[in-house]
Amino acid sequence: MPIRKETLGVGFIGAGDVSILHAAAVKKCPGARLVGLWNRNPDRAQQRAEQFGCRSYPSAEELVSDPAIDAVFVLTNLETHLEYTALALGAGKHVLVEKPVGVNVAEIERMKALAEAKDLICMPGHNYIYEQSMQRTRELVENGDLGRIVSAYVMYNIHHPEEVAQRYPGVVRQILTHHSYILLYLVGPPVELCAMKATLHYQQYTEEDIAMVQMRLANGALAHFCASFAADDHAADPWTVMVKVIGTGGSTRYSYRDHVEIKPGLVHSQTYTAYQGSITNEVRHFLVECLRLGRAPLSTLDDALMAQRMIEAAEKSIAQKCIVTL
Ligand SMILES: NC(=O)c1ccc[n+]([C@@H]2O[C@H](COP(=O)([O-])OP(=O)(O)OC[C@H]3O[C@@H](n4cnc5c(N)ncnc54)[C@H](O)[C@@H]3O)[C@@H](O)[C@H]2O)c1
Repeated sequence: MPIRKETLGVGFIGAGDVSILHAAAVKKCPGARLVGLWNRNPDRAQQRAEQFGCRSYPSAEELVSDPAIDAVFVLTNLETHLEYTALALGAGKHVLVEKPVGVNVAEIERMKALAEAKDLICMPGHNYIYEQSMQRTRELVENGDLGRIVSAYVMYNIHHPEEVAQRYPGVVRQILTHHSYILLYLVGPPVELCAMKATLHYQQYTEEDIAMVQMRLANGALAHFCASFAADDHAADPWTVMVKVIGTGGSTRYSYRDHVEIKPGLVHSQTYTAYQGSITNEVRHFLVECLRLGRAPLSTLDDALMAQRMIEAAEKSIAQKCIVTL
């Protein structure tokens, strides 16, 4: 049901790094306002509330039950996404939940069932697909303008210091989730895959800082993922974040390097303007297209489910040193 209020109220559960990008996105979104946030650590909550110009709620329960809030953004760590998504949906609020959406397939299925039962939107934070260049690539693929699709590549090489990486799962879950929903959106699902990982850069942290995946797609093409926290790519035309689709009739490219600002950006050594830009586009899509105009999200919890199956297949391939059929 489209929401007809003059101003859509947004509440954040979690006020870590990614909340900075979401707050900037809400600020830019017409007809929307960040009403308030809740964060587990009250000092951080107070600091961010002042920074964002919004109120700080004493509990997540009080935030979701405020009638001024129409949509809740779940921006906590992966392990608590289901808890807070269920809380918000239970209070009748639409939800944007950051990626990776759930710890396993069952958690995402639970979110889907809760959202459907309440007729609410629960949209995964699949930000990269809200870039115009990605959407153009998909159109070209769908129209057959690239001919027969031969290959697809998603490459990510962004150094993350060990103290930052420690807040996240390894790159298989944290980063290959992006790769998975991008691939699904652009060229469709894989039918089989194999993966490898390594820990090259970290001293204490035991999770992987690089992983690669090879896939055969349902359309017969092959695809490759690389996700690395181990090092930045400093070469000419670097694979910082690079997405390529190659077909017999043409090819496309998306690169974070199209817009670079020479200043640190959150945990990155430089500011890749597309990082904020993709989240700004995603938030506008959620609030304006989905909530105001009643349109379906471009990427749904079904895509999050398939992305999670791909992650779990990669983990199985790594553990058993085998090719996994999806
Ligand atoms: N889409 C993107 O490009 C992108 C980028 C960065 C992070 N993320 C995702 O956003 C989420 C948050 O990441 P971040 O970078 O802001 O991390 P962060 O470590 O800066 O913040 C994590 C937040 O989770 C909260 N938290 C941790 N454990 C909790 C618990 N048990 N109960 C309640 N709250 C708890 C912390 O208080 C903090 O607010 C993660 O799911 C991450 O994968 C997405």
